[in-house]
Amino acid sequence: MAEHQQETRAAYDGVVELYASLFADRLETRPFTRAMLSTFAELVRGTGNLRTADVGCGPGHLTAMLDDLELDAFGLDLSPAMVDHARRAHPALRFDEARMEALPVEDGTLGGVLAHYSMIHTPPEELPALLAEQVRVLAPEGLLLVSFFATDTPDPVRFDHKVAPAYSWPVDRFAELLVGAGLDPFARLIHDPASERGFLDAHLLARLH
Ligand SMILES: C[S@@+](CC[C@H](N)C(=O)[O-])C[C@H]1O[C@@H](n2cnc3c(N)ncnc32)[C@H](O)[C@@H]1O
Repeated sequence: MAEHQQETRAAYDGVVELYASLFADRLETRPFTRAMLSTFAELVRGTGNLRTADVGCGPGHLTAMLDDLELDAFGLDLSPAMVDHARRAHPALRFDEARMEALPVEDGTLGGVLAHYSMIHTPPEELPALLAEQVRVLAPEGLLLVSFFATDTPDPVRFDHKVAPAYSWPVDRFAELLVGAGLDPFARLIHDPASERGFLDAHLLARLH
């Protein structure tokens, strides 16, 4: 495991209860996230393949929302303490410790992959390989929903996220990487900052060709 992944894992291991108390109340999940999740779930259902991974699932509340939206959802996270929390909070659902860079999933088997603010800690030069790994597990016509912090700068910006160093992305640059990975990013939602950090929030919805 790369050093930055070890750091991210240790950092999230140390803030599970605080993170969960801030973000895991499903009723407080932001309306734009709920809207995109609901659209994503409808499109995944339309493929006929309900199997969906919530990668970097954290406390598992969005995995549970995908389950509510009738997907066959499971969660994966780098942080064992997050996985432990998710299992306790949602005992009916499956959560496993795994890196997004090496998913324990067979090729071409998922209808959907959700990455909600979980790619934010990936150094920009590693993002193409990370996206290729998500593409590997998607079935034809499968969908990826990725949410991240956006900037209007020409290049990604590294910033001191409260938990671990993170990157915000120019939306077009992120979309180009999706195209490079073989996906068609056909919908985007960008909205004013939801947090005091001041970055825009971006959600990109893409389909495998
Ligand atoms: C900002 S939190 C988002 C959690 C959840 N998706 C949400 O929206 O509340 C980022 C999560 O991604 C996980 N994560 C970061 N890098 C990862 C990686 N390389 N593989 C798997 N999980 C990772 C972290 O452990 C953490 O739980």
